Amino acid sequence: MSIIDKYNHIRKRTEDICSVLTTEDYIPQPVNFVSPPKWHLAHSSWFFEEFLLKKHLPDYKVYNEDFCFLFNSYYNTVGNRTFRAERGHITRPTVSEVYDYRNYIDMHMQLLLQLKDPQVHELVELGLNHEQQHQELLLTDIKYILGCNPLFPVYNENLEWENQENSQSGYISFPEGIYEIGFNGDGFSFDNEHGRHKVYLEAFEISQALVTNAEYLDFINAGGYQNFNYWHDEGWAWVNENHIEAPLYWHKIDNEWHMFTMAGLQKVNPDAIVTHISFYEAWAYAEWKKMRLPTEFEWEAAALQLDWGKRWEWTNSAYLPYPHFAKPEGAIGEYNGKFMVNQMILRGASSATSKDHSRITYRNFFHANERWQFTGIRLAKR
Ligand code: AVJ
Ligand code: FE
Repeated sequence: MSIIDKYNHIRKRTEDICSVLTTEDYIPQPVNFVSPPKWHLAHSSWFFEEFLLKKHLPDYKVYNEDFCFLFNSYYNTVGNRTFRAERGHITRPTVSEVYDYRNYIDMHMQLLLQLKDPQVHELVELGLNHEQQHQELLLTDIKYILGCNPLFPVYNENLEWENQENSQSGYISFPEGIYEIGFNGDGFSFDNEHGRHKVYLEAFEISQALVTNAEYLDFINAGGYQNFNYWHDEGWAWVNENHIEAPLYWHKIDNEWHMFTMAGLQKVNPDAIVTHISFYEAWAYAEWKKMRLPTEFEWEAAALQLDWGKRWEWTNSAYLPYPHFAKPEGAIGEYNGKFMVNQMILRGASSATSKDHSRITYRNFFHANERWQFTGIRLAKR
């Protein structure tokens, strides 16, 4: 596929994700960590404008000077911007004006791509991978927005993401030894996967299956959420302050557990893989099982033998730079590196991850309390 075809294909998918939304769905920001769909559509376009068109397309005219303030996410190098928690206050530009902005960016990106400037290739790849990250965020943010509605609207009645089951069972053993970690190969990778290096791992076993709803229900029914012994101190405070007693989107109705899904409200399917779990919960579950979460290094060493890709899998590794990690020059240096504190690594990918946007060295990261992504639990022992 040519880079122009690839660009058009990925950009169209973003709009396809939004095709069933009503105008009203595009606006709310129910909590700080959720962004309004309109904001995603504009921000992912702004990324191409700021980092590609402004610098590399001769005579490019910025669409609207105010959009940089409105749709810059976190790039201090680029300048001031809307507070993250106030993205939902932006009722203007309208949704239709944001689509016009997208069209303007796409039109000019065609011109830029026709120049076949090898200098821009890497940045275009970054812009497209960024767009794909926002596709997943769009889906999870749309789910959160719809999930706040007491009528539990359906996003797509044919999506079965919350009902997927394991295809493997048992444990695989790995011997102690030296393993190589980090990206090496062709194709795109993020800066945080770089600094390929050796790690020494003790012998370990890793589960081929992810924890199911039935297994997680055993933890709930055993009083897992009422017993401090299983929890980090921070996790225990989080459980109590937020009255947590089940995964996100679970609702007890007539004494039976239901969950809100992309296809609406459903009974919890015991055989499906549990999802919308925080790191705190994943860790507590492992404690209760007298097992543990794998480190990101164990996960990567085992990945070729695992069936992964349905849930983001919490690891017991903090999001830190690899040895020799170097952040790129300029604003793009703010993309990943500055978040390497107080977040945990997730490995794999989820059902909401865009096609061709996963690999065994991919490092996703979220705060320990965050659970609106399609997260899950894989156990390790020894
Ligand atoms: C890698 C998913 C944590 O949500 O900020 C989007 C992805 N980076 N725009 C995030 C991202 C820049 C990132 N996560
Ligand atoms: Fe972004």
